[in-house]
Amino acid sequence: MYTQGLDQAEPLGDEDLSRLSERFEAKVAAEDKVEPTDWMPDAYRTLLVRQIAQHAHSEIVGMLPEGNWLSRAPSLRRKGILLAKVQDEAGHGLYLYCAAETLGISRDEMVEQLLAGTAKYSSIFNYPTLTWADCGAIGWLVDGAAIMNQVPLCRCSYGPYARAMVRICREESFHQRQGFEIMTVLSQGTPEQKAMAQDALDRWWWPSLMMFGPPDAQSTHNDRSMRWKVKRFTNDELRQKFVDMTVPQAHFLGLTVPDPDLSYNGEHWVFGEPDWSEFKRVLSGDGPCNRERLAARNKAHDDGAWVREAAVAHAEKKRSRERVA
Ligand SMILES: [Fe+2]
Ligand SMILES: [Fe+2]
Repeated sequence: MYTQGLDQAEPLGDEDLSRLSERFEAKVAAEDKVEPTDWMPDAYRTLLVRQIAQHAHSEIVGMLPEGNWLSRAPSLRRKGILLAKVQDEAGHGLYLYCAAETLGISRDEMVEQLLAGTAKYSSIFNYPTLTWADCGAIGWLVDGAAIMNQVPLCRCSYGPYARAMVRICREESFHQRQGFEIMTVLSQGTPEQKAMAQDALDRWWWPSLMMFGPPDAQSTHNDRSMRWKVKRFTNDELRQKFVDMTVPQAHFLGLTVPDPDLSYNGEHWVFGEPDWSEFKRVLSGDGPCNRERLAARNKAHDDGAWVREAAVAHAEKKRSRERVA
C-alpha cells in the first residue's frame, strides 16, 4: 500500500498564511459565504464556536422558564401553542449545535461545558416565571429581542450559521406574536389581569434590554465581529432598535414601561441605563435561577442516559446486521 499522507495538512509557511488570510478577508468583504471546508483564521473559528454554542445553549436553557407553565397554561389552546413554541426552541438548539459542529467541536463537548457550568448562555433565562403573564412577556419581549438580534445573523458571513438563522427567525416571529397576543388579552381583561401584565412588563423590561449585551464601550468582541460580518449592528444599535419598536407596543397595550427616564426625542425613544452590575452578576452565575436552571439541565441529561445508550446499542445492532447481510 502506497501512502503519501495526502490527507495530512502540510504546516503552512508565513507566505501561505498571509495569502490565505488575504483571500479570506476579500471573500468576507465581498459578502461571499465562508463554508466549513474553506480556510479560516483560528480567531474567526473560535469566535464563531463561542457565539454559536452560546446561542444553542440559550435556546436549550430557554425552554425551562416557559416549560414551567406547560402544565398550568390557562386553556387547552394556550397549552398547545406553548408546547409548540417550547418544542421550536429545542429545534433551534439542535440546528445550532449542528452548525457549531461544522467548525470542529463536538456536540458532546458543548453539552458537557453547559452542564459543568463553564459555558455561557443568555442571562435572561435565569429569571423566574412567576405568573402566566410572564409567558406573554417572554414571547413579546424576549423573543422580540431575539428577533432583533437574529435577523441580521441571517446575513452572517459563516454559511451554516446564516442558513440556520433563516428558519429560526421565521419561528421566532411566531413566538413574538403569540406573546404579544397573550399580553393583549390580559391588558384588555379584568383589572387583575391587566395588573398581572403590568407586573410582568416591570420584571422583564430591564433584563430584556440586557439581552443585547454590555454597552459598546465595554464590549470586547464588537470590532472583530463587525469586520468579519458575524455581527452587523453593535449592541447599542440593536438595543435602541428594540426600544424604538417596543415602546409603542407597550403604549398600545395601555401598559407603562418601567423607566422614569423614557422620553421621545422626535426620532428615537431615549431610555435609562440598565443596571449593569445586575447583568454581570446574573451572567457570572449568581442570578435568581442560575443554579436551578443548571440542575434541571443536568437532571434531564442524566434521565436521558438510557435513551442515548439505547440509540448506540440500536446503531450497533443495525451495523452488525448489515455486516452479515
Ligand atoms: Fe429560539
Ligand atoms: Fe423563540
